[in-house]
Amino acid sequence: TLIPVILSGGAGTRLWPLSRELMPKQLLKLTGERTLLQDTAGRLGVPPVVVCNVEHRFIVAEQLREVGLEPRAVVIEPVGRNTAPAAAVAALMLADSDPDALMLLMPSDHLIADVPAFHRALEAAVPLAEAGRLVTFGIPPTNPNTGYGYIKRGKALDGGFEVERFVEKPDLATAETYVASGDYTWNSGIFLLPVRLFLDELSRHAPGMAESCKAALDQGRSDLFFFRLDDKAFAAIAGQSIDYAVMEKSDKVAVVPVDMGWSDIGSWSALWQETSHDADGNAIQGDVLALESSGCYLRSQGRLVAAVGLKDMVVIATDDAVLVADKARDQEVKAVVEALKREG
Ligand code: GDD
Ligand code: MG
Repeated sequence: TLIPVILSGGAGTRLWPLSRELMPKQLLKLTGERTLLQDTAGRLGVPPVVVCNVEHRFIVAEQLREVGLEPRAVVIEPVGRNTAPAAAVAALMLADSDPDALMLLMPSDHLIADVPAFHRALEAAVPLAEAGRLVTFGIPPTNPNTGYGYIKRGKALDGGFEVERFVEKPDLATAETYVASGDYTWNSGIFLLPVRLFLDELSRHAPGMAESCKAALDQGRSDLFFFRLDDKAFAAIAGQSIDYAVMEKSDKVAVVPVDMGWSDIGSWSALWQETSHDADGNAIQGDVLALESSGCYLRSQGRLVAAVGLKDMVVIATDDAVLVADKARDQEVKAVVEALKREG
């Protein structure tokens, strides 16, 4: 059986001021009628397991119910410990009831424009996973983005490739050589994992983590479909991403390349790219009047924003904060959130 597991623990700080601690990116309607979490769950149409922070448990359950996908389980983390522990607790839970299960681990906050292409890739991935592979999905890279993992394909397999190398977030010079070589794809962050194999590989490459996660599960408690991990036991786990903990180290990784209109819309310019534009290249959401402006992302909630003569700018107006930024420097929005945190 294939069971979708959605990771919904990220903060999406580069999309401030829309994305907030209590209402992060994946819970927002960024491009359409549905939130990114709802889109993610809807792609499979099967009730998922969701791993999320305690603060978000009710809204996560509510958003899934809204699209007719009552979650199979909502696993509640007291604090974020990055993706490896989140994946591990889900795998431990599933292995308990169905040791042969394949879990489709998915980030909650990505766009996939071509869903049929995603389904075809998944079909190719299932036999690879059943044959004992941790399957990644590789996106053709368009630039040397250093925020992604890079996957070097090796020997051809039926439906995909062996992975010769997985490098998480290389530096720019390295990423440039990878993109130029043509042998690498971006890691999409979606994984098809046989639960038992994943737990074995985790035990091998991150000794102790699986045991600590098991303790947090054993001492946790369940209440309907909510499962609350033990606060103390889970908080004691050293945080690490699945990419560093397992994918970089395992020799059982395969990749299925897929071009599916994927974007992790990590920033305002990425969102601008994914939104329809007017004749001047402005993406506009909400009550906005743009005059003599071009290449801008302009978004307003509840009040009128008027722009005159702006070029390649981002303006985001919410009830309690306004962001005005150079679109080319939108990665630095993260620094605003950090500065605000420091000031309390
Ligand atoms: N439950 C839970 N708990 N989820 C988490 C946590 C956590 O502590 N931390 C992150 N997540 C969720 C995020 O919400 C996101 O959906 C997903 O896990 C991936 O985490 P990110 O923090 O967004 O990872 P990243 O973007 O830096 O890197 C990953 O994704 C890239 C593609 O977007 C890596 O897998 C890269 O290799 C990959 O290229
Ligand atoms: Mg991400």
